[in-house]
Amino acid sequence: MTLRAFGGAAVLILAAFAASAQQAADAVAPESAAPAAAFAGLTADGKAALAAKDSGKPVSAKSWMIAAANPLAVQAGAKMLESGGTAADAMIAAQAVLGLVEPQSSGLGGGAFLVWYDAATGTVTTLDGRETAPMEATPQLFQDEAGEPLKFYDAVVGGRSVGTPGTPALMKAAHARWGKKEWPGLFLEAINLADQGFSVSPRLAALVAEDAERLSRFPATAAYFLPGGKPLQAGGRLANPAYARTLRALAAGGPDAFYKGPVAQGIVDTVRGAEGNPGVLSLDDLAVYKVKERAAVCVPYRSAEVCGMGPPSSGALTVGQILGMLENFDLRAMGPGNPRAWRLIGDASRLAFADRGRYMADSDFVPMPTAGLTDPEYLRSRADLLAGTEAALPEVSPGRPVFDHAMLWGDDDSIELPSTSHISIVDQYGNALSMTTTIENGFGSRLMAPGGFLLNNELTDFSFRTHDDGLPIANRVEPGKRPRSSMAPTIVMKDGKPLYVTGSPGGSRIIGYVAQNVIDVIDWGMDPQQAAAAPHLVNRFGKYDIEAGTPAEQLAGPLGDLGFETGLAELNSGIHAIGITPDGLLGGADPRREGIAIGK
Ligand code: GLY
Repeated sequence: MTLRAFGGAAVLILAAFAASAQQAADAVAPESAAPAAAFAGLTADGKAALAAKDSGKPVSAKSWMIAAANPLAVQAGAKMLESGGTAADAMIAAQAVLGLVEPQSSGLGGGAFLVWYDAATGTVTTLDGRETAPMEATPQLFQDEAGEPLKFYDAVVGGRSVGTPGTPALMKAAHARWGKKEWPGLFLEAINLADQGFSVSPRLAALVAEDAERLSRFPATAAYFLPGGKPLQAGGRLANPAYARTLRALAAGGPDAFYKGPVAQGIVDTVRGAEGNPGVLSLDDLAVYKVKERAAVCVPYRSAEVCGMGPPSSGALTVGQILGMLENFDLRAMGPGNPRAWRLIGDASRLAFADRGRYMADSDFVPMPTAGLTDPEYLRSRADLLAGTEAALPEVSPGRPVFDHAMLWGDDDSIELPSTSHISIVDQYGNALSMTTTIENGFGSRLMAPGGFLLNNELTDFSFRTHDDGLPIANRVEPGKRPRSSMAPTIVMKDGKPLYVTGSPGGSRIIGYVAQNVIDVIDWGMDPQQAAAAPHLVNRFGKYDIEAGTPAEQLAGPLGDLGFETGLAELNSGIHAIGITPDGLLGGADPRREGIAIGK
C-alpha cells in the first residue's frame, strides 16, 4: 500500500460519484469562497494556499507544513516552522491565534488531545489535555429535581457545564517535551493580533448572528460578540485586550499564570456567578489540573497502522473498530460510488457506536475492555455480522469483547453537537503532530472569562443519565473524571514512519469523518485535498446522514433500498490533513471551513 501515490487513481474513482472532487467542494458552499480580502493580514503564502484550496489542489512542500482552520493561525504556525521551530512550537503559536480568531471552537478555556510522532525515537505517543469534572460535581449534575435529564441547552449555557480547562497545560506539556523555541516568543503573533485587532471572518460573523440569543445571555459575552447589541460583522476589526493580557501573563509565567492567581479567580467567579445556571468549578480544581501522557491506540488497516487517542476519547477506538471490521472487505474494488461499500461502512459504524455507547469512558475511573475492543479476532467476529447479509442490519447491539472484569454496563445515548477545530503539522525534523482542540459546543458555555476567552461546556459530553435500566452508565459524571470524547486526532503509520496526519471537528460525527477520510486516502487513492472535500456519509446510531447538496445524494435511494433510514444533512467537517510521500508533503484543508495548509 503506497497511499496509491496520493491521487493517481483518485480522479477516476471519484468519477463514480458522478462529480469531481472540485465539484464536490463547490457543492458544499465552502467558506473559502469568501474573497482573500475577507482575511485581512494574509501573507503571500496564505493567499497562495487559499487559491490552491479554491482550485481543489493540495498544497505541496518539501520540508514542513501546517494545516488548520483559520489562515491567520496557520500563518502564525508557519512562521515558527520556517524559523526552525518544531511542530510543538507551531501548534502553540497556532492555538494561541485560533483562540482569538476562531473563539467559538477552541481556546484557553477548553481542552485538546494531541498525537505526536517523534522522529528522534520513531515512536508515537499522545497527550490528554481533556477537561476534568470539578471535585464538587455529582453524578446528578445534569438532572432536574425529579432525576430527569436537563434539556441540552439548559445544561450547556452557564457555569454548570464548565470543566477544568486543559489546553494551556497541554501547550506547556508539549513544549516541555518537544519545543525548541523560547516559550514567550510563541505568543507574540497572537498578542499582536489581540492588541491591534483582527478582521472578523465570515464564518465567525455568521455563527455569532445565528447564536445571538444565547450569546446575549451574559453581559461580558454580549459586550464582546454583540457590541451595541448588534452581532459582529464580517470584515470588521476586533481587538481583545483582555486576551492579550492573559497571553502576556501565560508567556511570562507559564501555566501557573493561568491555573493560579487572577486569571484562575476570574474563571471561577464567572462559573460560580453565572446567573440562572451556576457551576461548581473551584480554584482547587484549576490548581491540581494535570495533562496525562498516554499510550497511543494503534489499529492495523491494510498495510498501515492507524494511531490515535485512547480513553477518555472514544475516537481512536471507534475509528479503529470501524476500519478493523472493514479490513475484511475489498472496499478498493468497490469504489466510493458503490452503495455496497457504504452499506458496509454504515453498518460497521453502527456496530462500533453500539460498543462505544456501552464500554467507552474515562478508563482512569471505570474499567474498560480497551484491548478487547480492537482485538482482530473480536473485530472479525463483528465483521461476520456484516458478511452474513447484503442488506442493512435490522438492528445492532454491543458485542462482548474480551474484558478482565465481570461487569454489566448500561448504554449511553448522550449527544454531542458539531464544533471544535483540528490542526495537523509536520516539521523539518520529521516530527508529526495531530491535535483536535475544542470548547465543545460552538461558543462553549457562552461564558466569557475576564481573561478574554470563552469557557468550555465539555461536561455535557458526559451522560446526563447515571443508569440505564438499573445498570450504571460508564460515561456518567464523577468528580475529577474526564468526559468521553469523540475527538480522533490521527497519525497513519507505515513501516514505522508517518504516512498521513489527519483529524476533524464535528461532535460524534468526527468518528465517521475520520474513518471515511482514511478510507478515501488508503483505499480510494485520493490526495489530502480531494479527501477533505469528498462528500460525507455518516452513520452513528442507525440513520444514514448524507451530505446535502453533494453527489452523495445519489446514494440515498440505493441505501434506502438496502434498508437504511436516510436523511440529508449539512455535514460540516473541518478536516486538516497532511500526506507524507517520498516526494514531499501534500496538504489539504476542508472546503467547508476557512482553513488552509501552508508548507515550504
Ligand atoms: N466535545 C467534542 C468531543 O470531545 O468529542
